[in-house]
Amino acid sequence: MKKIKALAAIALAAVMTASVFTGCSGSSADNKSTGATGAAKAEAPDTTKSEPIDYMVLVNKTNPLPDTWEDKLETIHTTNSIGDTVEVEKKAYDAYLNLKQDLVSHGIHVDLDSARRSVKEQQKIMDDFTKKYGAEYAAKTVAKPGYSEHHTGLALDLYLIIDGKDVVENEDMIKYKKIWAEIHKKLAKYGFILRYLEGKEHITGYGYEPWHIRYVENGYIAKNIKSKGLTLEEYLGKAKGGKVDIDYGTSSIYSKKDLEDAVIQLKCDFANFEGCKLHNIRYAGDSEVNDANLKWVNEKNPDAKYTKVAKFLTDFKSPKGKKNSTLESNHEYKDYQWWLARTDKDGWEVVSKGY
Ligand code: DAL
Ligand code: ZN
Repeated sequence: MKKIKALAAIALAAVMTASVFTGCSGSSADNKSTGATGAAKAEAPDTTKSEPIDYMVLVNKTNPLPDTWEDKLETIHTTNSIGDTVEVEKKAYDAYLNLKQDLVSHGIHVDLDSARRSVKEQQKIMDDFTKKYGAEYAAKTVAKPGYSEHHTGLALDLYLIIDGKDVVENEDMIKYKKIWAEIHKKLAKYGFILRYLEGKEHITGYGYEPWHIRYVENGYIAKNIKSKGLTLEEYLGKAKGGKVDIDYGTSSIYSKKDLEDAVIQLKCDFANFEGCKLHNIRYAGDSEVNDANLKWVNEKNPDAKYTKVAKFLTDFKSPKGKKNSTLESNHEYKDYQWWLARTDKDGWEVVSKGY
């Protein structure tokens, strides 16, 4: 997949400007995104599948694609401006065409880079990443096969067309902040949300992706999610949000950017702690950056050849009565340690965590 390299670069370095529960529901026929207009011919309502899909389905690091999803899924295939075939869930596609047309009327041109992916396709992306960047790093950038929202057909990766030219690489697209902001303003009207928000990596488990939009069908719900600045996890009550205090301390070894990158990696890893509320993250100080600790992380992962190590401390609270969890129920964890390490060329990895 052509975006692999760029995706990695983004997860390593893109969150240059990192920023930072309420379950609610509602419905509004007016706000629902319905059939396509203009550019596309609306398809006839489906009569072959008896049960509709759940447009609010949560697929993330801890929730795989539901077993019966494929039985209910109806997709269409479309060809983008580059000539690639993209598969999309039917209603999401109609809504996308409406969004696209609205954007065109404001001089913004987008197309679909990727939407539904099979488990096999996701595996290929994961394999390529793992080969290039290592397993730990790939896990923070690409969803594990079976756990990608792209399997649902409801997740759409957009690309930009600027002055008639396709801007597809993530590292190029990320520069168009104003255009993305305009696009994001329009998403809810058509039943879409932005899925991977800046500053919410500890909840979503992934770095900021301005191009990855998710169809939730109901415009009222989408507006609610957007106006409250929530992730889908928070909206569904599957994650505790709120403010996370970050104390980078002072370092004469690491730049602020270095420490910010490490914190993003830590947050992505924290997303595996389902239902936990993260209170704060603190850099443990330069005194932990020593030969003994560097030796220790290299012993843990002998193939890695780390040249840098950093320790962080976090306080967080675990949820009540969570099954299959190694964490204590409803417990305030204090000074929980995270050890991260990096090589000269690769990004930070979480090498160890715990007490
Ligand atoms: N890049 C997103 C997280 C995926 O692989 O599904
Ligand atoms: Zn995506």
